[in-house]
Amino acid sequence: MKISLGDKKASVQIIVDFVSTDKSLNSLSKSLQNSIHKSIKEKRIKKEAGQCLHLASGKSPDNLVFFLGSELSKEKIRHAGAKAINFLKSNKYSSAQINLSGLLNNGVPEDDALCATAEGALLADYEFNKFKSKKSEQNLNVTINSPKNKSTSNFLKMAEVLAEATNFTKYLGDSPGNFMTPSQLAKEASEFCGSVGVKVTAWNKNQIIKEKMDSLLGVSLGSSEEPRFIIMDYKGGNPKDQPVCLVGKGLTFDSGGISLKPGAGMEEMKYDMCGGGAVIGAMYAIAKLKLPVNVIGIVPATENMPGPSANKPGDIRAARNGITIEINNTDAEGRLILADALVYASEQKPKAIFDAATLTGAMMIALGNTHTGFFTRNPELADRIRAAASLSGEQVWQMPLVDEHCKDMKGTFADLTNLAPSKNAGSATAAAFLESFVEKNIPWAHFDIAGTAWSVGSRLPYCTAKGASGVMVRTFFEIAKSYCA
Ligand code: BES
Ligand code: ZN
Ligand code: ZN
Repeated sequence: MKISLGDKKASVQIIVDFVSTDKSLNSLSKSLQNSIHKSIKEKRIKKEAGQCLHLASGKSPDNLVFFLGSELSKEKIRHAGAKAINFLKSNKYSSAQINLSGLLNNGVPEDDALCATAEGALLADYEFNKFKSKKSEQNLNVTINSPKNKSTSNFLKMAEVLAEATNFTKYLGDSPGNFMTPSQLAKEASEFCGSVGVKVTAWNKNQIIKEKMDSLLGVSLGSSEEPRFIIMDYKGGNPKDQPVCLVGKGLTFDSGGISLKPGAGMEEMKYDMCGGGAVIGAMYAIAKLKLPVNVIGIVPATENMPGPSANKPGDIRAARNGITIEINNTDAEGRLILADALVYASEQKPKAIFDAATLTGAMMIALGNTHTGFFTRNPELADRIRAAASLSGEQVWQMPLVDEHCKDMKGTFADLTNLAPSKNAGSATAAAFLESFVEKNIPWAHFDIAGTAWSVGSRLPYCTAKGASGVMVRTFFEIAKSYCA
Protein backbone atom coordinates (compact mmCIF):
# COMPACT_ATOMS: atom_id res chain seq x y z
CA MET A 1 0.00 0.00 0.00
CA LYS A 2 1.14 3.52 -0.76
CA ILE A 3 -0.05 6.68 0.93
CA SER A 4 0.36 10.05 -0.75
CA LEU A 5 -0.87 13.58 -0.16
CA GLY A 6 -3.17 15.71 -2.27
CA ASP A 7 -6.32 15.31 -4.32
CA LYS A 8 -6.69 12.33 -6.58
CA LYS A 9 -9.69 10.52 -8.02
CA ALA A 10 -10.41 7.31 -6.16
CA SER A 11 -13.09 4.65 -6.08
CA VAL A 12 -14.02 5.38 -2.49
CA GLN A 13 -13.93 8.44 -0.28
CA ILE A 14 -13.24 7.84 3.39
CA ILE A 15 -14.53 10.55 5.66
CA VAL A 16 -13.10 10.73 9.15
CA ASP A 17 -15.21 13.09 11.21
CA PHE A 18 -16.74 13.75 14.59
CA VAL A 19 -20.33 13.86 13.36
CA SER A 20 -21.49 14.43 16.91
CA THR A 21 -20.52 18.09 16.92
CA ASP A 22 -22.52 20.78 15.15
CA LYS A 23 -19.69 21.88 12.91
CA SER A 24 -19.12 18.36 11.63
CA LEU A 25 -19.70 17.34 8.08
CA ASN A 26 -19.95 20.90 6.80
CA SER A 27 -17.06 20.37 4.44
CA LEU A 28 -19.04 17.68 2.62
CA SER A 29 -21.44 18.07 -0.27
CA LYS A 30 -25.08 18.82 0.64
CA SER A 31 -26.28 15.50 -0.78
CA LEU A 32 -23.73 13.55 1.24
CA GLN A 33 -24.66 15.47 4.40
CA ASN A 34 -28.29 14.61 3.74
CA SER A 35 -27.56 10.90 3.28
CA ILE A 36 -25.59 10.83 6.52
CA HIS A 37 -28.32 12.62 8.48
CA LYS A 38 -30.91 10.31 6.95
CA SER A 39 -28.87 7.25 8.04
CA ILE A 40 -28.67 8.64 11.56
CA LYS A 41 -32.42 9.24 11.63
CA GLU A 42 -33.06 5.72 10.35
CA LYS A 43 -30.79 4.46 13.13
CA ARG A 44 -28.50 2.71 10.66
CA ILE A 45 -25.74 4.41 12.54
CA LYS A 46 -25.36 6.08 15.93
CA LYS A 47 -23.57 9.32 16.66
CA GLU A 48 -20.92 7.68 18.75
CA ALA A 49 -17.27 6.76 18.58
CA GLY A 50 -16.16 3.82 16.51
CA GLN A 51 -19.22 3.74 14.23
CA CYS A 52 -18.72 3.31 10.53
CA LEU A 53 -21.18 3.93 7.72
CA HIS A 54 -20.80 2.62 4.18
CA LEU A 55 -22.73 4.58 1.59
CA ALA A 56 -22.59 2.82 -1.74
CA SER A 57 -23.93 5.42 -4.10
CA GLY A 58 -24.13 3.26 -7.18
CA LYS A 59 -21.86 5.74 -8.91
CA SER A 60 -18.26 6.39 -8.06
CA PRO A 61 -17.04 7.26 -5.54
CA ASP A 62 -18.60 5.26 -2.73
CA ASN A 63 -18.37 6.85 0.67
CA LEU A 64 -17.31 5.43 3.97
CA VAL A 65 -17.85 7.57 7.04
CA PHE A 66 -16.14 7.06 10.38
CA PHE A 67 -17.71 8.55 13.46
CA LEU A 68 -15.17 9.41 16.10
CA GLY A 69 -17.48 10.70 18.81
CA SER A 70 -16.75 14.02 20.46
CA GLU A 71 -13.91 13.13 22.79
CA LEU A 72 -11.14 12.77 20.34
CA SER A 73 -7.76 11.14 20.86
CA LYS A 74 -4.97 10.37 18.43
CA GLU A 75 -5.57 6.70 19.14
CA LYS A 76 -9.20 6.96 17.95
CA ILE A 77 -7.96 8.46 14.68
CA ARG A 78 -5.40 5.65 14.38
CA HIS A 79 -8.23 3.17 14.77
CA ALA A 80 -10.24 4.89 12.03
CA GLY A 81 -7.23 4.79 9.67
CA ALA A 82 -6.76 1.09 10.42
CA LYS A 83 -10.43 0.19 10.04
CA ALA A 84 -10.52 2.03 6.75
CA ILE A 85 -7.68 -0.08 5.38
CA ASN A 86 -9.20 -3.32 6.68
CA PHE A 87 -12.44 -2.38 4.93
CA LEU A 88 -10.71 -1.45 1.68
CA LYS A 89 -8.73 -4.67 1.60
CA SER A 90 -11.60 -6.97 2.40
CA ASN A 91 -13.76 -5.22 -0.22
CA LYS A 92 -10.91 -5.29 -2.76
CA TYR A 93 -10.84 -1.56 -3.46
CA SER A 94 -7.72 -0.43 -5.30
CA SER A 95 -7.80 3.27 -4.50
CA ALA A 96 -9.18 5.52 -1.82
CA GLN A 97 -9.15 9.14 -0.80
CA ILE A 98 -9.15 9.89 2.92
CA ASN A 99 -10.86 13.14 3.79
CA LEU A 100 -9.66 14.72 7.03
CA SER A 101 -11.27 18.15 6.49
CA GLY A 102 -13.89 17.55 9.17
CA LEU A 103 -11.21 16.95 11.80
CA LEU A 104 -9.12 19.93 10.75
CA ASN A 105 -12.15 22.24 10.58
CA ASN A 106 -12.96 21.22 14.13
CA GLY A 107 -9.54 22.21 15.41
CA VAL A 108 -7.65 18.89 15.43
CA PRO A 109 -3.98 19.78 14.79
CA GLU A 110 -2.85 18.68 11.33
CA ASP A 111 0.10 16.64 12.62
CA ASP A 112 -2.18 14.62 14.92
CA ALA A 113 -4.81 14.01 12.24
CA LEU A 114 -2.34 13.17 9.50
CA CYS A 115 0.18 11.14 11.49
CA ALA A 116 -2.44 9.11 13.32
CA THR A 117 -4.50 8.32 10.21
CA ALA A 118 -1.44 7.28 8.23
CA GLU A 119 0.05 5.33 11.12
CA GLY A 120 -3.18 3.37 11.70
CA ALA A 121 -3.52 2.69 7.98
CA LEU A 122 0.06 1.52 7.47
CA LEU A 123 0.07 -0.61 10.62
CA ALA A 124 -3.13 -2.31 9.47
CA ASP A 125 -1.58 -3.07 6.11
CA TYR A 126 0.88 -5.56 7.65
CA GLU A 127 0.60 -9.19 6.60
CA PHE A 128 2.92 -12.06 7.44
CA ASN A 129 3.07 -14.17 4.31
CA LYS A 130 6.78 -14.95 4.02
CA PHE A 131 6.08 -18.67 4.35
CA LYS A 132 2.95 -18.86 2.21
CA SER A 133 3.44 -20.18 -1.29
CA LYS A 134 0.57 -18.00 -2.57
CA LYS A 135 0.94 -14.44 -1.45
CA SER A 136 -2.02 -12.09 -1.70
CA GLU A 137 -1.05 -9.25 -3.98
CA GLN A 138 -3.32 -6.33 -3.54
CA ASN A 139 -2.24 -2.94 -4.77
CA LEU A 140 -3.84 -0.15 -2.83
CA ASN A 141 -3.25 3.53 -3.48
CA VAL A 142 -4.44 5.83 -0.75
CA THR A 143 -4.33 9.60 -0.83
CA ILE A 144 -4.98 11.88 2.11
CA ASN A 145 -6.61 15.15 1.11
CA SER A 146 -4.03 17.39 2.82
CA PRO A 147 -2.06 19.68 0.52
CA LYS A 148 1.49 18.51 0.02
CA ASN A 149 4.04 20.83 1.62
CA LYS A 150 7.15 20.53 3.77
CA SER A 151 5.35 20.06 7.08
CA THR A 152 2.67 17.65 5.84
CA SER A 153 5.37 15.60 4.06
CA ASN A 154 7.31 15.42 7.32
CA PHE A 155 4.24 14.27 9.27
CA LEU A 156 3.61 11.57 6.71
CA LYS A 157 7.25 10.46 6.77
CA MET A 158 7.16 10.20 10.56
CA ALA A 159 4.09 7.95 10.37
CA GLU A 160 5.66 5.85 7.62
CA VAL A 161 8.87 5.25 9.56
CA LEU A 162 7.10 4.40 12.81
CA ALA A 163 4.77 2.00 11.03
CA GLU A 164 7.64 0.44 9.05
CA ALA A 165 9.62 -0.09 12.26
CA THR A 166 6.62 -1.54 14.11
CA ASN A 167 5.68 -3.81 11.23
CA PHE A 168 9.27 -5.06 11.06
CA THR A 169 9.06 -5.93 14.76
CA LYS A 170 5.82 -7.82 14.05
CA TYR A 171 7.65 -9.71 11.31
CA LEU A 172 10.44 -10.69 13.72
CA GLY A 173 7.87 -11.95 16.26
CA ASP A 174 5.74 -13.81 13.72
CA SER A 175 8.74 -15.61 12.22
CA PRO A 176 9.06 -19.22 13.33
CA GLY A 177 11.80 -20.31 15.72
CA ASN A 178 13.53 -22.52 13.16
CA PHE A 179 14.07 -19.48 10.97
CA MET A 180 14.37 -16.62 13.49
CA THR A 181 17.29 -18.13 15.40
CA PRO A 182 19.61 -15.96 17.51
CA SER A 183 22.07 -15.63 14.62
CA GLN A 184 19.24 -14.76 12.21
CA LEU A 185 17.94 -12.14 14.67
CA ALA A 186 21.43 -10.63 14.76
CA LYS A 187 21.55 -10.63 10.96
CA GLU A 188 18.13 -8.93 10.75
CA ALA A 189 19.23 -6.27 13.27
CA SER A 190 22.44 -5.67 11.43
CA GLU A 191 20.75 -5.30 8.02
CA PHE A 192 17.72 -3.31 9.16
CA CYS A 193 19.42 -0.95 11.61
CA GLY A 194 22.69 -0.92 9.66
CA SER A 195 20.77 0.52 6.68
CA VAL A 196 20.06 3.70 8.66
CA GLY A 197 23.54 4.20 10.09
CA VAL A 198 23.34 2.29 13.37
CA LYS A 199 26.57 0.46 14.25
CA VAL A 200 25.55 -3.13 14.94
CA THR A 201 27.85 -5.65 16.65
CA ALA A 202 26.87 -9.23 17.50
CA TRP A 203 29.02 -11.24 19.88
CA ASN A 204 29.08 -14.98 19.28
CA LYS A 205 29.33 -17.75 21.85
CA ASN A 206 33.11 -17.47 22.32
CA GLN A 207 32.91 -13.75 22.81
CA ILE A 208 30.02 -14.16 25.25
CA ILE A 209 32.23 -16.56 27.26
CA LYS A 210 35.12 -14.07 27.16
CA GLU A 211 32.79 -11.31 28.31
CA LYS A 212 31.84 -13.37 31.38
CA MET A 213 28.15 -13.55 30.52
CA ASP A 214 27.72 -16.95 32.12
CA SER A 215 24.06 -16.36 32.93
CA LEU A 216 23.18 -15.80 29.25
CA LEU A 217 25.52 -18.59 28.19
CA GLY A 218 23.89 -21.13 30.53
CA VAL A 219 20.46 -20.60 28.99
CA SER A 220 21.86 -21.22 25.51
CA LEU A 221 23.61 -24.49 26.33
CA GLY A 222 20.56 -26.71 25.92
CA SER A 223 20.32 -25.72 22.27
CA SER A 224 22.38 -26.46 19.19
CA GLU A 225 21.86 -22.86 18.11
CA GLU A 226 24.56 -20.46 19.28
CA PRO A 227 23.57 -17.40 21.30
CA ARG A 228 24.26 -13.83 20.20
CA PHE A 229 24.68 -10.64 22.19
CA ILE A 230 23.52 -7.85 19.90
CA ILE A 231 24.66 -4.27 20.45
CA MET A 232 23.22 -1.42 18.37
CA ASP A 233 24.95 1.91 18.77
CA TYR A 234 23.33 5.09 17.46
CA LYS A 235 25.04 8.42 17.92
CA GLY A 236 22.61 11.20 17.05
CA GLY A 237 23.59 13.50 19.90
CA ASN A 238 26.78 15.14 21.03
CA PRO A 239 29.48 12.41 21.08
CA LYS A 240 30.12 13.17 24.76
CA ASP A 241 26.45 12.93 25.82
CA GLN A 242 25.54 9.96 27.97
CA PRO A 243 23.43 7.47 26.01
CA VAL A 244 19.99 6.08 26.79
CA CYS A 245 20.01 2.25 26.86
CA LEU A 246 17.18 0.13 25.48
CA VAL A 247 17.40 -3.55 26.40
CA GLY A 248 15.14 -6.32 25.04
CA LYS A 249 14.71 -10.04 25.75
CA GLY A 250 15.59 -11.89 22.55
CA LEU A 251 14.53 -15.44 23.43
CA THR A 252 13.92 -16.84 19.95
CA PHE A 253 12.18 -19.96 21.28
CA ASP A 254 11.27 -20.77 24.87
CA SER A 255 10.52 -24.46 25.41
CA GLY A 256 11.09 -23.97 29.15
CA GLY A 257 14.31 -26.01 29.03
CA ILE A 258 14.53 -28.93 31.50
CA SER A 259 11.56 -27.35 33.34
CA LEU A 260 9.70 -28.04 30.12
CA LYS A 261 6.52 -26.12 29.32
CA PRO A 262 3.28 -27.99 28.62
CA GLY A 263 2.71 -28.73 24.93
CA ALA A 264 -0.50 -26.74 24.43
CA GLY A 265 0.31 -23.29 23.11
CA MET A 266 4.05 -23.87 23.14
CA GLU A 267 4.23 -22.85 19.48
CA GLU A 268 3.54 -19.29 20.58
CA MET A 269 6.83 -19.18 22.45
CA LYS A 270 8.49 -18.01 19.22
CA TYR A 271 7.29 -14.58 20.29
CA ASP A 272 9.53 -14.62 23.36
CA MET A 273 11.94 -12.35 21.47
CA CYS A 274 9.43 -9.51 21.09
CA GLY A 275 11.20 -7.33 23.67
CA GLY A 276 14.38 -7.64 21.60
CA GLY A 277 12.34 -7.12 18.45
CA ALA A 278 10.92 -3.89 19.87
CA VAL A 279 14.42 -2.61 20.60
CA ILE A 280 15.50 -3.37 17.03
CA GLY A 281 12.42 -1.62 15.61
CA ALA A 282 12.84 1.39 17.89
CA MET A 283 16.55 1.76 17.03
CA TYR A 284 15.62 1.84 13.34
CA ALA A 285 12.99 4.55 13.81
CA ILE A 286 15.24 6.61 16.08
CA ALA A 287 18.08 6.52 13.56
CA LYS A 288 15.99 6.96 10.42
CA LEU A 289 14.27 10.02 11.90
CA LYS A 290 17.68 11.24 13.07
CA LEU A 291 16.74 11.96 16.69
CA PRO A 292 19.46 14.14 18.27
CA VAL A 293 20.23 11.73 21.11
CA ASN A 294 22.64 8.85 21.72
CA VAL A 295 20.94 5.49 22.14
CA ILE A 296 22.39 2.01 22.65
CA GLY A 297 20.12 -0.96 21.91
CA ILE A 298 21.06 -4.25 23.59
CA VAL A 299 19.51 -7.64 22.80
CA PRO A 300 20.69 -10.88 24.43
CA ALA A 301 19.48 -13.57 22.02
CA THR A 302 19.24 -17.31 22.60
CA GLU A 303 16.94 -20.32 22.52
CA ASN A 304 15.87 -22.07 25.72
CA MET A 305 15.96 -25.82 24.99
CA PRO A 306 16.34 -29.00 27.06
CA GLY A 307 19.43 -30.44 25.32
CA PRO A 308 22.08 -32.52 27.17
CA SER A 309 24.13 -29.51 28.27
CA ALA A 310 21.12 -27.47 29.37
CA ASN A 311 20.87 -25.74 32.72
CA LYS A 312 19.51 -28.13 35.34
CA PRO A 313 17.31 -27.03 38.24
CA GLY A 314 19.69 -26.24 41.10
CA ASP A 315 22.59 -25.22 38.86
CA ILE A 316 24.46 -22.11 39.91
CA ARG A 317 25.90 -19.56 37.51
CA ALA A 318 27.52 -16.16 37.93
CA ALA A 319 26.40 -13.10 35.99
CA ARG A 320 28.88 -10.62 34.51
CA ASN A 321 28.96 -8.56 37.73
CA GLY A 322 29.83 -11.61 39.84
CA ILE A 323 26.38 -12.07 41.44
CA THR A 324 25.66 -15.80 41.66
CA ILE A 325 22.27 -17.25 40.73
CA GLU A 326 20.64 -20.51 41.69
CA ILE A 327 18.57 -21.65 38.72
CA ASN A 328 15.61 -23.34 40.34
CA ASN A 329 13.37 -23.25 37.30
CA THR A 330 14.95 -23.24 33.85
CA ASP A 331 11.78 -21.71 32.42
CA ALA A 332 12.48 -18.47 34.28
CA GLU A 333 15.23 -17.84 31.71
CA GLY A 334 14.33 -14.33 30.56
CA ARG A 335 15.65 -12.80 33.77
CA LEU A 336 18.85 -14.84 33.40
CA ILE A 337 19.70 -13.45 29.97
CA LEU A 338 18.59 -9.93 30.93
CA ALA A 339 20.86 -10.03 34.00
CA ASP A 340 24.02 -9.95 31.87
CA ALA A 341 22.47 -7.44 29.47
CA LEU A 342 21.55 -5.05 32.30
CA VAL A 343 25.07 -5.28 33.75
CA TYR A 344 26.46 -4.45 30.31
CA ALA A 345 23.97 -1.58 29.94
CA SER A 346 24.98 -0.19 33.35
CA GLU A 347 28.63 -0.21 32.25
CA GLN A 348 27.72 2.22 29.44
CA LYS A 349 27.06 4.86 32.13
CA PRO A 350 23.69 5.74 30.60
CA LYS A 351 21.23 8.47 31.56
CA ALA A 352 18.65 5.72 31.98
CA ILE A 353 17.96 2.09 31.10
CA PHE A 354 14.62 0.80 29.77
CA ASP A 355 14.05 -2.90 29.18
CA ALA A 356 11.18 -4.77 27.54
CA ALA A 357 10.57 -8.48 27.93
CA THR A 358 7.88 -11.11 27.55
CA LEU A 359 8.92 -12.02 31.05
CA THR A 360 6.06 -13.59 33.00
CA GLY A 361 2.74 -15.35 32.51
CA ALA A 362 1.74 -13.55 35.72
CA MET A 363 1.75 -10.27 33.81
CA MET A 364 -0.93 -11.59 31.45
CA ILE A 365 -3.02 -12.64 34.41
CA ALA A 366 -2.66 -9.23 36.05
CA LEU A 367 -3.31 -6.93 33.09
CA GLY A 368 -4.45 -9.06 30.15
CA ASN A 369 -3.69 -7.60 26.74
CA THR A 370 -4.79 -4.04 27.37
CA HIS A 371 -1.83 -2.63 29.30
CA THR A 372 1.88 -3.20 29.44
CA GLY A 373 2.91 -3.31 33.08
CA PHE A 374 5.96 -1.30 33.95
CA PHE A 375 8.14 -1.29 37.03
CA THR A 376 10.32 1.54 38.25
CA ARG A 377 11.17 3.08 41.58
CA ASN A 378 11.98 6.39 39.92
CA PRO A 379 8.99 8.79 39.86
CA GLU A 380 10.53 11.04 37.20
CA LEU A 381 10.93 8.04 34.92
CA ALA A 382 7.35 6.93 35.57
CA ASP A 383 6.07 10.36 34.49
CA ARG A 384 8.26 10.31 31.40
CA ILE A 385 6.94 6.86 30.49
CA ARG A 386 3.31 7.86 30.90
CA ALA A 387 3.86 10.95 28.74
CA ALA A 388 5.57 8.88 26.02
CA ALA A 389 2.84 6.23 26.07
CA SER A 390 0.09 8.80 25.75
CA LEU A 391 1.75 9.99 22.54
CA SER A 392 2.19 6.49 21.14
CA GLY A 393 -1.28 5.37 22.21
CA GLU A 394 0.15 2.22 23.80
CA GLN A 395 -1.42 1.76 27.22
CA VAL A 396 0.90 1.28 30.20
CA TRP A 397 0.24 0.74 33.88
CA GLN A 398 2.71 1.15 36.71
CA MET A 399 3.11 -1.92 38.94
CA PRO A 400 4.60 -2.01 42.43
CA LEU A 401 8.23 -2.90 43.05
CA VAL A 402 9.34 -2.84 46.70
CA ASP A 403 11.99 -4.37 48.97
CA GLU A 404 9.69 -7.27 49.93
CA HIS A 405 9.83 -8.46 46.31
CA CYS A 406 13.65 -8.35 46.44
CA LYS A 407 13.69 -10.42 49.61
CA ASP A 408 11.79 -13.17 47.78
CA MET A 409 14.63 -13.51 45.30
CA LYS A 410 17.42 -14.23 47.84
CA GLY A 411 19.06 -17.60 47.16
CA THR A 412 19.71 -20.46 49.57
CA PHE A 413 22.94 -21.71 47.98
CA ALA A 414 23.81 -18.63 45.90
CA ASP A 415 23.24 -14.88 46.12
CA LEU A 416 19.93 -14.99 44.27
CA THR A 417 17.40 -17.53 43.04
CA ASN A 418 15.61 -17.13 39.74
CA LEU A 419 12.42 -18.56 41.26
CA ALA A 420 10.37 -16.81 43.95
CA PRO A 421 8.91 -18.97 46.73
CA SER A 422 5.38 -18.19 45.56
CA LYS A 423 3.75 -17.58 42.19
CA ASN A 424 1.93 -14.57 43.61
CA ALA A 425 3.12 -11.22 42.30
CA GLY A 426 5.30 -13.19 39.86
CA SER A 427 5.88 -10.16 37.64
CA ALA A 428 7.06 -8.03 40.54
CA THR A 429 9.46 -10.65 41.89
CA ALA A 430 10.85 -11.05 38.37
CA ALA A 431 11.34 -7.27 38.20
CA ALA A 432 13.02 -7.34 41.62
CA PHE A 433 15.45 -9.97 40.33
CA LEU A 434 16.34 -7.74 37.36
CA GLU A 435 16.91 -4.75 39.63
CA SER A 436 19.92 -6.49 41.23
CA PHE A 437 21.79 -6.17 37.93
CA VAL A 438 21.23 -2.45 37.36
CA GLU A 439 23.82 -0.17 38.93
CA LYS A 440 22.29 1.64 41.91
CA ASN A 441 22.05 5.24 40.74
CA ILE A 442 20.98 4.64 37.17
CA PRO A 443 17.28 5.35 36.54
CA TRP A 444 15.75 2.13 35.27
CA ALA A 445 12.35 0.88 34.17
CA HIS A 446 11.25 -2.59 33.15
CA PHE A 447 8.29 -3.28 30.83
CA ASP A 448 6.69 -6.72 30.97
CA ILE A 449 5.05 -7.16 27.55
CA ALA A 450 4.00 -10.82 27.94
CA GLY A 451 0.33 -9.81 27.60
CA THR A 452 0.63 -7.08 24.99
CA ALA A 453 3.18 -8.40 22.50
CA TRP A 454 0.93 -11.06 20.98
CA SER A 455 -2.66 -11.59 19.85
CA VAL A 456 -4.08 -8.18 20.59
CA GLY A 457 -5.85 -7.97 17.22
CA SER A 458 -9.21 -8.56 18.85
CA ARG A 459 -8.74 -5.22 20.57
CA LEU A 460 -6.71 -3.23 18.07
CA PRO A 461 -7.72 -2.93 14.41
CA TYR A 462 -4.10 -2.37 13.40
CA CYS A 463 -2.82 -5.71 14.71
CA THR A 464 -3.50 -9.16 13.33
CA ALA A 465 -5.78 -11.35 15.45
CA LYS A 466 -3.11 -13.96 16.01
CA GLY A 467 0.41 -12.63 15.80
CA ALA A 468 2.91 -10.15 17.11
CA SER A 469 1.79 -6.59 17.87
CA GLY A 470 5.08 -4.69 17.68
CA VAL A 471 4.26 -3.14 21.05
CA MET A 472 6.84 -0.75 22.59
CA VAL A 473 8.50 0.29 19.33
CA ARG A 474 6.56 3.54 19.24
CA THR A 475 6.70 4.10 23.01
CA PHE A 476 10.48 3.50 23.03
CA PHE A 477 10.72 6.00 20.17
CA GLU A 478 8.78 8.60 22.19
CA ILE A 479 10.93 7.90 25.25
CA ALA A 480 14.11 8.45 23.22
CA LYS A 481 12.57 11.65 21.83
CA SER A 482 11.93 12.87 25.37
CA TYR A 483 15.70 12.88 25.93
CA CYS A 484 16.36 15.11 22.91
CA ALA A 485 17.52 18.60 23.74
N1 BES B 1 8.51 -16.49 28.27
C1 BES B 1 7.92 -16.85 29.49
C2 BES B 1 6.82 -15.89 29.94
C3 BES B 1 5.59 -15.87 29.09
C4 BES B 1 4.55 -16.73 29.35
C5 BES B 1 5.48 -14.99 28.07
C6 BES B 1 3.42 -16.71 28.57
C7 BES B 1 4.36 -14.96 27.27
C8 BES B 1 3.33 -15.82 27.53
C9 BES B 1 8.96 -16.89 30.61
O1 BES B 1 10.22 -17.27 30.20
C10 BES B 1 8.49 -17.91 31.60
O2 BES B 1 8.34 -19.03 31.24
N2 BES B 1 8.22 -17.46 32.82
C11 BES B 1 7.72 -18.29 33.84
C12 BES B 1 8.43 -17.93 35.11
C13 BES B 1 8.16 -18.84 36.27
C14 BES B 1 8.75 -20.21 36.01
C15 BES B 1 8.74 -18.24 37.51
C16 BES B 1 6.21 -18.10 33.97
O3 BES B 1 5.76 -16.96 33.85
O4 BES B 1 5.51 -19.08 34.19
ZN1 ZN C 1 10.49 -19.38 30.16
ZN1 ZN D 1 10.69 -16.82 28.19
